[in-house]
Amino acid sequence: MSSPAERIAALTAQIAEWNEAYFVRDAPVAPDADYDRAVRELRELEALHPDLASVDSPTQAVGSKVGDLFTPVAHQVAMLSLDNVFDVDELLLWAQRTAKGVSDLDEIYYCIEPKIDGLALSLVYLDGVFAYAATRGDGRVGEDVSANVMTIRNVPMTLEGNATSGRIDVRGEVFLAKKDFEELNERQRQAGAKEFANPRNAAAGSLRQKDPAVTRERPLSFLAYQLVVGEGHPLQSLTQHTQSLAQLAEWKFLTAVETKRARGPQDMVAATNWFEERRHDLIYDIDGVVIKVDDLALRDQLGFTSRAPRWAIARKLPPEEQTTTLLAIEVSIGRTGRATPYAVLEPVVVAGSTVSMATLHNEDQVRLKDVRPGDVVIVRKAGDVIPEVVGAVTATTHRHEPWQFPRECPECGGELRRVGEESDTYCVNAACPAQQMQQVVHFASRSAMDIEGLGEQRVAQLLQEGLISDLVDLYSLDAERVAHLEKMGELSANSLVNAIAASKDQPLSRLLIGLGIRHVGPVAARGLAGRFRSLNGVRYASVEEIASVEGVGPIIAASVALYMATPEHQERVERLNELGVALEEPRMSDDLAQTLAEKAVVVTGSVPGYSRDGAEAAIVARGGTSPGSVSKKTYCVVVGEAPGASKLTKAESLGVPMVAAEHFDDLLATGVWPSATS
Ligand code: IVH
Repeated sequence: MSSPAERIAALTAQIAEWNEAYFVRDAPVAPDADYDRAVRELRELEALHPDLASVDSPTQAVGSKVGDLFTPVAHQVAMLSLDNVFDVDELLLWAQRTAKGVSDLDEIYYCIEPKIDGLALSLVYLDGVFAYAATRGDGRVGEDVSANVMTIRNVPMTLEGNATSGRIDVRGEVFLAKKDFEELNERQRQAGAKEFANPRNAAAGSLRQKDPAVTRERPLSFLAYQLVVGEGHPLQSLTQHTQSLAQLAEWKFLTAVETKRARGPQDMVAATNWFEERRHDLIYDIDGVVIKVDDLALRDQLGFTSRAPRWAIARKLPPEEQTTTLLAIEVSIGRTGRATPYAVLEPVVVAGSTVSMATLHNEDQVRLKDVRPGDVVIVRKAGDVIPEVVGAVTATTHRHEPWQFPRECPECGGELRRVGEESDTYCVNAACPAQQMQQVVHFASRSAMDIEGLGEQRVAQLLQEGLISDLVDLYSLDAERVAHLEKMGELSANSLVNAIAASKDQPLSRLLIGLGIRHVGPVAARGLAGRFRSLNGVRYASVEEIASVEGVGPIIAASVALYMATPEHQERVERLNELGVALEEPRMSDDLAQTLAEKAVVVTGSVPGYSRDGAEAAIVARGGTSPGSVSKKTYCVVVGEAPGASKLTKAESLGVPMVAAEHFDDLLATGVWPSATS
């Protein structure tokens, strides 16, 4: 056991190192929970041994000193931190402490807000015009990040409406919505670049860029949670924090829709519980709930300690990151043959569920994260997201060699090969049993043909017993033979065969998803089905035509064309047809007048009030077609905003009538239009 002085010194050094990594380098090396625990232990030790507590202890500091990338700016009003509590008992103690001698506890109103895990920012406006933005820094001096903040789309550059005069300081959090974070990491993976560990890191890294053009490419958002105005400002007349939030919303700042107002400690605690239960339904990651006294006069009375207000507290929620040991790295084979490395972990409870496996995405990500069997790693699981390994905690001296991607498929022994420029590795054996199984499972899945009762185990059984060898064989399954399978029986066999038969009438878009064409997801599938109406339509379309469909680009188009040109796939499609599977998209709107029956209407440019797909769907719903190019058979061309020059020239040279977008509705309603603009 070390002495208190030694322990304090060790904790101080550790926290200083973590602070530097977190605040300056945006590259945290420890999970938040470990950090919180260390700060807490240090604070307790300092309370027990006040003589050992140093004045510059990290327990006294807010954030960290600023780096040298940006110009320092002093905050007119310090940007403080928040004190934390970790459970309901501590929260109630805080409430009692704050009320003592100033108010009747049951009469206190609280504002309860999400504690967004991002990066604090102060936005200063002078007479309603954005002046500058600064990070928190050490609380007194932050970094001028104005140029970068100006690229954040939801930060208003001018304040319009009520009381915009003088100096207004809007405080809030820069963050990445969960969805935007997923997309950003997907982009990083595609580019073979290192993924961001979590939304907080990604937001901090994106904001603290030398080049604002980089920040502009990142989907950052800003949420306002505090309004600061000086003496004499008209908004000093506000009496409650919730009123200032309403004012911020009126100025078009994003504020937290989940914010609640509660009276007395009981309702206040209930409101914080709500956040704990619903945290995964929010669009942003939260690491806690902030409870603020709503009455601004009472706030003034309560005041501040050196690092945090007494009138607010953060209730921390259980962390979504944990550390555990990486036991091994293995590879699984998906339906397209893609070999995905995944971590086998010493089981650990993260965000309420036990995690023993986590994805590592691809070979490059394993290398960039430099995780090796035997390492202690940070595991992250936010909501329904697949658990991920964020990185190794610290490099110990005795590490295993870097992990090597296997050369052979663990399922069939075939060759594993990296394709082209991509980071992905594939099992190139089309007969690989793992691929076959995943293909059938995907075909039957909810987003594809939605065949009830056909999960992984059942599919494995059907394949093993030789009842099927391809997804097509599902439609010729013999109920009697199925009934003889282990754990089956006549009843389940019949219902399975019936469920399969019922899927024959699924719309074309679902079939397109189910076929498992690389890169074809729901958006592309709906686009293709809407445009071409039948599988044959897709099959005989040119790559250019396919690529012109909304939601489909050149990569997807090439993949669709390749699929359709492969003899085995053509045979598959023919057999599906013979077995009675619908290969056409049903008409949805039989009750609409078929004003455009048999007419080809080309749309170019955007038609106000319609998305691209929407305009096409409206034409198709009235019996027409909406091809991607103009020919002499074209009935007319609808000309929207920013039309394509080639279509206009073609229409002109062929004498095809052109209809202004404002007459689109007339065209739909009547099949003709008031006047042609040619
Ligand atoms: S109020 C003086 N409200 O949490 C009080 N902070 O750990 C200032 N945070 O620096 C903070 N959501 O970056 C407040 N709804 C919220 C918040 C919030 C997130 C962050 C903020 C602050 C840190 C303190």
